[in-house]
Amino acid sequence: MENNRVYNFNPGPAMLPLEVLKEAQSEMLNFKNSGMSILEISHRAKKYDEVHNQAKADIKELMGLGDDYEVLFIQGGASMQFNMVPQNFAIDGKIGNYILSGSFASKAYKEACILGEAHVAASSKEIQFKHIPTQEEITLSNNAAYLHVCYNNTIYGTEYHYIPETKGIPLIADMSSDMLSRPLDFSKFSLIYAGVQKNLGPAGVCLIVARKSFIENSPQALPTMLRYDTYGKNNSLYNTPPAFGIYMIGKVAAWIKKQGGLEAMGKLNAAKAKLVYDAIDNSNGFYRGHADKDSRSLMNITFRLPSEELEAKFAAEARQHELCGVKGHRSVGGMRTSIYNAMPMEGCQALAAFMEKFKNENI
Ligand SMILES: Cc1ncc(COP(=O)(O)O)c(C=O)c1O
Repeated sequence: MENNRVYNFNPGPAMLPLEVLKEAQSEMLNFKNSGMSILEISHRAKKYDEVHNQAKADIKELMGLGDDYEVLFIQGGASMQFNMVPQNFAIDGKIGNYILSGSFASKAYKEACILGEAHVAASSKEIQFKHIPTQEEITLSNNAAYLHVCYNNTIYGTEYHYIPETKGIPLIADMSSDMLSRPLDFSKFSLIYAGVQKNLGPAGVCLIVARKSFIENSPQALPTMLRYDTYGKNNSLYNTPPAFGIYMIGKVAAWIKKQGGLEAMGKLNAAKAKLVYDAIDNSNGFYRGHADKDSRSLMNITFRLPSEELEAKFAAEARQHELCGVKGHRSVGGMRTSIYNAMPMEGCQALAAFMEKFKNENI
């Protein structure tokens, strides 16, 4: 690959578009004739303001959302949202409802339980989180404040292929690992959050896209930095924002627009994933996918080999072929290849060819 880079299949922090990295590199010493880098500019400067507001506008444009939605940048990662969500919305006798579809979905639920009562609306824990609960499996409590879903389960390699119907109960989604990877009717969601270090930029920023009316008034007793309304009313500039991260998100959003937006991104991501899933499905059982077929993720592909020895050998040999970060999460074992937006088609072609070769040599 160009510039001695490798195909990076890590789950996050993950690969960023080379074009974006080069652009950031070229601006590093002197951002837009300011004589400073973006890392050194005041967050109150006009030049930063433009970066900040353009990133917000491009994200909303990509998502097809209008003035009734707000884009926020909050620190603390997606994990901070696990507690901000119940603190802001599980109030007035209402409780958070959660679908347990994997590890991060369960962590979100656990955090809500620390703060008070929460309800499990559906779970696939009993079947090792191999599938995404269906609409029929969801039972909301009668005092539901919201339904929280983890839209793509990074560790288990499953993803929603439908939007849950909640009959007016606000829908909240953790889209950390599939944000802006395909078109969706985002207006069905009251709040979406995503730690950006997978599909959108460097670690250190959580992107939140929420209906303005939903985040307008946080409970009075909440500290300033834990209130969504603090960020909403201050354009995410109440305190010093993670400016470099936001600058990179802006560049990635502009890059996605250049690729043809979410429609084009979705088609490309589906074609990339098909290459790898075909390598699994056509291996006569040498590779065994973890996720049920109807719940397969287009972003994180999880599979096992016939033995742990072969799995270790697979990871080591993949590295020699410049295919990095293919080892699965310790809780699932096996392999996991993360193919976010920035992974080019050629990376998936190289992976599929390697899988075929490895199978033939080790069957
Ligand atoms: C779906 C999902 N949610 C939440 C998180 C936690 O994100 P963070 O490390 O930004 O807190 C991750 C991280 O891998 C994730 O994949």
